[in-house]
Amino acid sequence: MPPETDPNLIVGRENSEDAGVYRLTDEIALIQTVDFFTPIVNDPRDFGRIAAANALSDVYAMGGRPVTAMNIVCFPVRQMDKDILKQILLGGIEKVHEAGAALAGGHSIEDPEVKYGLSVTGVAHPDRILTNSGARSGDVLLLTKPLGTGIISTAVKGGLASAEVEKLATEVMAALNRKPAEIMASHTVHACTDITGFGFLGHGLEMAAASKVTFSIYVHDVPLIPEVYDYAAMGLVPAGSYSNRSFCAAALRNADRIDPLMLDILSDAQTSGGLLIAVPESEAEILLSRLLAGGVEAAAIVGRVTGRSEGIIELVE
Ligand code: CO
Ligand code: CO
Repeated sequence: MPPETDPNLIVGRENSEDAGVYRLTDEIALIQTVDFFTPIVNDPRDFGRIAAANALSDVYAMGGRPVTAMNIVCFPVRQMDKDILKQILLGGIEKVHEAGAALAGGHSIEDPEVKYGLSVTGVAHPDRILTNSGARSGDVLLLTKPLGTGIISTAVKGGLASAEVEKLATEVMAALNRKPAEIMASHTVHACTDITGFGFLGHGLEMAAASKVTFSIYVHDVPLIPEVYDYAAMGLVPAGSYSNRSFCAAALRNADRIDPLMLDILSDAQTSGGLLIAVPESEAEILLSRLLAGGVEAAAIVGRVTGRSEGIIELVE
């Protein structure tokens, strides 16, 4: 596609960023993002919550605050009970309001397959935008949610997931990234993204490549949803996770020394995953303790930026 030339477009299509950012004034930058998908859980209210939390997350990943959202709805209105649509929309608006944003409208079309999501507009100071490209050698990497929602969704579809883990994965996906975003706002954050469809390794690699650095990932310190390893061992790995793994393969180091099931989990396509945050070492422990104290229970230090490169992930056992 032809390039953009508007100098006020601070973040555009380069570097696989989470959202576009446009400088409106010297004080206000507009953050814009859109995301929608087909149901990944059976309960329509939960699906609405998850889809909305996922769409709002890209604003948090850019260091912003969501202000308005618009519904995007595809629904087979003649074949399906309209109460299902109502529940989806109620789940969505619940999360929009929890984010402190307003639902300004939306658009719906008739479609044989249900799809729902949001277009979200957020704001931030133009100098406080968090991109993928700022991670520096010596930075510490933190992750704020456990991995495994793709594998668990596959187990749920196959009727193999326990009720407890299904509930837990739903809570993980429906949780806003608002709290970690607010906590990190008072720290020096060099780079941030959220973990979604390309998995932890895919999004980590986007950040490493945009920052031209090497990430060393401490595989055993990466937080996981309970039971996800067991489901991975049963082969309940979605196709998207395998394509993520092969997409990342050339940029991985020591992959042959890592448990292949852990590689599946690290590559697992996430819905509404956590924030991956690069901070100077001097702030890492205090940020982690503030996240834990603030109720971001799964937050963990998962790696370190260890040098300059074109974008490499070194896996450490
Ligand atoms: Co994102
Ligand atoms: Co997105």
